[in-house]
Amino acid sequence: DGSQFGVQLSYAVQPSPDGLAQAFLIGADFIGTDTVAMVLGDNIFAGHGLKKCLQAAVETAESGSGATVFGYYVDDPERFGIVEFDKEGKAISIEEKPEHPKSNLASMGIYIFTYKQLRKYLVADAKDKDSKHDFGMNIIPAMLNDNKKLYAWEFDGYWKDVGTVDSLWEANMDLLKDKDLDLYNIKKDWKIYTEDT
Ligand code: G1P
Repeated sequence: DGSQFGVQLSYAVQPSPDGLAQAFLIGADFIGTDTVAMVLGDNIFAGHGLKKCLQAAVETAESGSGATVFGYYVDDPERFGIVEFDKEGKAISIEEKPEHPKSNLASMGIYIFTYKQLRKYLVADAKDKDSKHDFGMNIIPAMLNDNKKLYAWEFDGYWKDVGTVDSLWEANMDLLKDKDLDLYNIKKDWKIYTEDT
């Protein structure tokens, strides 16, 4: 329930895998008129000012100035949602797993929105039977199409999508390397669960 971290967590279940965007409709009563964030669970983030970037993104969304996605430079952009952005850090396009990527900036699976603005797009998208109800494929492209503002923060700390066995193994190796991901830079009383095979 989050009490060991000083927060209160509650959960809602998505009955079938009908796209990431559905989470914000399932949680609509809980959200009310708050600013919303989605953080994908198979991503690891650490260090280098992420907290400040997140705070800035929340302020931007709360003031109604725009949504924010977080980007990370990758060498294999075909595997990710790819954000193309201008000199002012505004996103111009986002494409999921593009064959011909327009940039090397992968969306890190953190999205921050003004819910009042987002809801209209979620409701319209939910009615579209051909939609995958996905942020990179449907929701954000529709918002950009309407010239809604979307900012892209480039993050230069540690990030890894551990959605494959190989990348999970790589993250474990990164931890052992004691580079950007510091196992000891956490509260001393946090448990680390592991399993020998
Ligand atoms: C998802 C998102 C993609 C993002 C990636 C980052 O893809 O759709 O935009 O770049 O997470 O982890 P998935 O890992 O589900 O294929």
